[in-house]
Amino acid sequence: MTKLRSGDVLRSDQFTKEEIDLIIETARQYEATLDAGEVLDTMRGLVLVTLFYEPSTRTRLSFEAAMLRLGGGVITVAEAKSSSAAKGESLHDTIKTVEGYADVIVLRHPQIGAAKEAADATNLPVLNAGDGAGQHPTQSLLDLYTILKEHENVDGLTLALTGDIKNASTVHSLALLLSNYDVEFVFAAPDALRMPTEIVDRVRAAGIKVTESTDLATAIRKADVLYMTRIQRERFEDPDEYESLKDAFILRREMLFDAKSNLTLMHPLPRVNEIVTDVDDYPGAAYFRQSANGVPIRMALLALVTDRA
Ligand code: NCD
Repeated sequence: MTKLRSGDVLRSDQFTKEEIDLIIETARQYEATLDAGEVLDTMRGLVLVTLFYEPSTRTRLSFEAAMLRLGGGVITVAEAKSSSAAKGESLHDTIKTVEGYADVIVLRHPQIGAAKEAADATNLPVLNAGDGAGQHPTQSLLDLYTILKEHENVDGLTLALTGDIKNASTVHSLALLLSNYDVEFVFAAPDALRMPTEIVDRVRAAGIKVTESTDLATAIRKADVLYMTRIQRERFEDPDEYESLKDAFILRREMLFDAKSNLTLMHPLPRVNEIVTDVDDYPGAAYFRQSANGVPIRMALLALVTDRA
């Protein structure tokens, strides 16, 4: 029995507040050990497999770095589409196979629900590293960790989630995770890319004030945390629709004149064109600090699901 109720990490709304606190606290401890240059052997003898059916830089590498920092080993299929999946192997059979090679599985897959399907096929811990337009819970935990480092407290903050919030799994998970706190949301997107009704309804049902807007300027004015996302080209069936929306929300430095003085700018990355690079030296631009926070959070998750924390 691990310290978490489930050995899998599939959705951000699976966690109790106590579990979220435990993950954050464990990550803090790991970050301190990294800062002190300590070498850990917490996961010695264990093997992580990273199976990525969609592109990734940060999620895969930070999971792998996390496992190596904990003294464990890593095997990977970075382009899982070029694995036996290309020959028609089902996800189920791939998972049954890697079960024989590894102790913990990190999966990114284009299909909503794929991580659950993988978890149902094995007793090994499965961590969802993004299931298409579904959820990306480990990203949301590192986002929360980032907000706590930048602002000390989440309660009382207004968070604007913007861009392609229909298709970006990151903001679906983040909205649900932060519903555990006393926050306000602005969901800002072009009309065609609004937050799914199911998420809006669930956030409101948790007693959280939500303002929906089609306007980036409104989001900038109200936000303590402005969370940008890229327009997710690969989720569009119609390339013309993508073309018509791809430049809808672009953040330029001069647009930040109206922002609160302590604004934190976040983005799960990769960015395409939605944050102009002259924003990068804005003091609140936290997106590269945010990506670095993936390592301690993923160390915490790997150690907790394998009961080594
Ligand atoms: C996201 C991803 O790759 O799914 N980024 C990330 O995981 N850090 C965001 C995206 O693709 O837009």
